[in-house]
Amino acid sequence: MNKVPRESLSSSDISAIGKARWRVLFVCILASLAGLMCGMDIGTISGVLRPFGTQFHASTVALEWVVGGMLVGATVGALTGGRLVEHFGRKVTLIIAAASFFFGAAGCAASQSVMMMILCRVVVGFGMGVSDFSTPLYLSEVARTEQRGAMVSLYQLLKTIGIFLAFFSNSFFASSGDWRSMLVVEAAPAIVFLVLFFFLPRSPRWLMMKGREDDALEVMTGLRGHVAHAEQELAVVGEQLQTKEEGGKLLRTNRNYRRSVGLGMLLQILQQFAGINIIMYYAPHILEAAHFSLKAQMWCTALIGLVNVLMTFVAIGYSDRWGRKPILYAGYISMSVSMAVLAALLWVGASTLALQLTALLMIVIFVGGFAMSAGPLMWVLCAEIQPAGGRSLGISISTGTNMLSNLLIGTTFLSIMELVGSANTFWIFASFNALAVVLLYFFVPETKDVSLDVIEKRLMSGVKLRHLGR
Ligand code: BGC
Repeated sequence: MNKVPRESLSSSDISAIGKARWRVLFVCILASLAGLMCGMDIGTISGVLRPFGTQFHASTVALEWVVGGMLVGATVGALTGGRLVEHFGRKVTLIIAAASFFFGAAGCAASQSVMMMILCRVVVGFGMGVSDFSTPLYLSEVARTEQRGAMVSLYQLLKTIGIFLAFFSNSFFASSGDWRSMLVVEAAPAIVFLVLFFFLPRSPRWLMMKGREDDALEVMTGLRGHVAHAEQELAVVGEQLQTKEEGGKLLRTNRNYRRSVGLGMLLQILQQFAGINIIMYYAPHILEAAHFSLKAQMWCTALIGLVNVLMTFVAIGYSDRWGRKPILYAGYISMSVSMAVLAALLWVGASTLALQLTALLMIVIFVGGFAMSAGPLMWVLCAEIQPAGGRSLGISISTGTNMLSNLLIGTTFLSIMELVGSANTFWIFASFNALAVVLLYFFVPETKDVSLDVIEKRLMSGVKLRHLGR
């Protein structure tokens, strides 16, 4: 876009533009705090399960549904997110998500029965599904074009930080088994964020969609620091809005759109069937199978959370340089190998310290492999492959698929372990990750440096999915 040339800007214009850059960053960090809440919801449960289960004499299946309740809510949230953001706007939808996080987590902390816990987890999950759909959308609409990728990845980064903080707080309360305090730690930030979200600006794009052009200009001028820049950007938004979102109709009538929707679903199935959430929800159970003491289980889980945060920086820093596919191959190969070695260790019985440390190392390699690849990149790809006319519906369906697959794994993992044993369970995940490498080769495009426009043209002219990008 042709910005006003720098020579024609006054020094006060330049200073206003500089301040606006900081304002955008601040707004994006604030909105991404929704990711922190999602992460805390994902991470807390691994610490809560055992003491909660003991207190209420919960069966394995009941515990699986304490995990799964969140995912049922998240699936509903992801599938209804599209309507909420359209009707109420992105900002109000984020406030709804924060309110669900707060009331759901507070309800979990006060739970007097397994059923109450499961129902409150559904409420927390609803916030998570809504947030997973609406936060990246909001970020991509307020960020500057050149920062869009980084700002969307910020959301995943904050999610991993939330998981780490929850693992850390779980370790802190592990010896007392005080599961209610673990859940209070989850609820407390949600109320703060709920208040802070009222200060977010509305999305200029949504204001334009609603015909509130003056309001859109006012907000955009605040975000860009110069009225002419704001006008130029809104003119482009106005043009893009000429393409009506008609996802439902496209789904019925356009085979090529069905291909991109199918690809989005495949990407999210590949992400979830890698098995990341068996570690996120059940790490202490797995470490117990490898004979770790209770205290060691909790601190090792916190270490796993830290690796999850740090390795996310690889994707943020390198996916635009090396490309998405090489990083995905490296991630899935390391996940497959580490799961296979873990399975072998559990099979022989990790009884010596050296074997136990090797088992821990394998979990760390697995989580690191996921965090640098499938964790952030599947979300990036899912947003890139959908054509403008069906973007919201396409992303909503792939997000819903992510939650449903997560639900399937989260609610069956403990039962499968009981049924076939821990070693065989990990063989299954090792094989799935190996299969993912093949599916990546045949179906996934390399989208690095390819504009969304080009991807859309290739998709609509029937080019093979793996050739949609470079
Ligand atoms: C996944 C979550 C997972 C998280 C772990 C996300 O990309 O969608 O299911 O818990 O990564 O960091």
